[in-house]
Amino acid sequence: MTSPAASAAPLPGAPFVCYQNGRLMVEGVALSELARQHGTPLFVYSKAAILAALAAYQRGLAGREALICYAMKANSSLAILKLLADAGCGFDIVSGGELERALAAGATPSKIVFSGVGKTRAEMRRALEAGVGCFNVESRAELDVLSEVAAASGVRAPVSIRVNPNVDARTHPYISTGLKGNKFGIAHDEALAAYRHAAGLPDLRVVGIDCHIGSQITESAPYLEAMDRVLDLVTQIEAAGIPIHHIDFGGGLGIDYNGDTPPAADVLWQQLLGKLDARGFGSRKILIEPGRSLVGNAGVCLTEVLFLKPGEQKSFCIVDAAMNDLPRPALYEAFHRIVPLAEAGSTADAVTYDVVGPVCESGDWLGRDRVLAVQQGDVLAVLSAGAYCMSMSSNYNTRPRAAEVLVDGVSARVIRQRESVQDLWRGESP
Ligand code: LLP
Repeated sequence: MTSPAASAAPLPGAPFVCYQNGRLMVEGVALSELARQHGTPLFVYSKAAILAALAAYQRGLAGREALICYAMKANSSLAILKLLADAGCGFDIVSGGELERALAAGATPSKIVFSGVGKTRAEMRRALEAGVGCFNVESRAELDVLSEVAAASGVRAPVSIRVNPNVDARTHPYISTGLKGNKFGIAHDEALAAYRHAAGLPDLRVVGIDCHIGSQITESAPYLEAMDRVLDLVTQIEAAGIPIHHIDFGGGLGIDYNGDTPPAADVLWQQLLGKLDARGFGSRKILIEPGRSLVGNAGVCLTEVLFLKPGEQKSFCIVDAAMNDLPRPALYEAFHRIVPLAEAGSTADAVTYDVVGPVCESGDWLGRDRVLAVQQGDVLAVLSAGAYCMSMSSNYNTRPRAAEVLVDGVSARVIRQRESVQDLWRGESP
């Protein structure tokens, strides 16, 4: 291990990842060393990168009554949750499983918001018992069921209605959520009636309003538009005698995967707070639910080159990570940069490869048409792999899930052991 050289330039889209003396480092730890010790595929996260991403939001919201609820679906490993809980974050959860994970990591229940279109009665009961801060309710039917569950539990459920502002986030259709045709939220023009309904249910307590228009958003305009639409509603709802204590603007800020240039979190919030102030809502409590932008660029996935397979039409670089480990390319044709651990270390010729995994599907690719000078046994790093990779991984092809390591300065610790094959059939009967 070497100490970090201040002069080494971080790779694009990967703060705290840089080549030093020819070796790719995360903070002060050589990735080749981690691959040797822990094997591959291996996820490696930088603590400093996560805290720096959080600090941008904290700077942007400084001086305001604000709560950052990390959308833990992006990466729900306990150590990452604990790191963010210790730094003051609350959590945005979408299932009973996420609730238990957040609590196990030391979350403060009152700082948890519970989102999602399909909460079960059992999940509602457990969340009420735990004392979550707010249910982000997505339909009138859910309001009724939550009220019944709250009555049976002898408590009043704190609610916010997720409104669908019908704003185009201009992102991939699978991760766009704020348009009329999406399953999320209550339509803007039905929201006032839904608030009246909620306020009339004795076992609910209206506390806020929320929206979330999509993910990997790379412009400010959709946020500003959604904010205007939400503030219009707050005015109408309060005029109807229903006070709105907090406004939750969701998550969605994008990261740099491939030269993307989203606004920095503090810059975005300067713009949004400007609008909030101008419209007279400057002293209102603000909640936000960022996921990807806190962890996405803080992680890499290390994978070994198993075989090179030259071909007439395509040449393949077959690696030991696959769509079960890194599902984003297969699901969304997403781009992740892929770089070797040794800077110009290989004597091999540069060849254009499709980087593919061992899973038996043509959709199992990690990168297409990548120019790489690699040979069998080399290790590659897939960048921007901190969000929606491990948390969406599966055991397809009976592949145990990868291990995870958290780097802090010059030290590194395993935060999730590699799964064993026996783990995979626990609970099954032949
Ligand atoms: N709040 C709610 C209600 C959400 O549905 C989401 C993400 C977030 C917050 C956090 O959004 P973020 O800040 O991470 O963009 N698997 C996809 C992303 C799915 C996002 C789903 N909802 C991907 O890999 O691109």
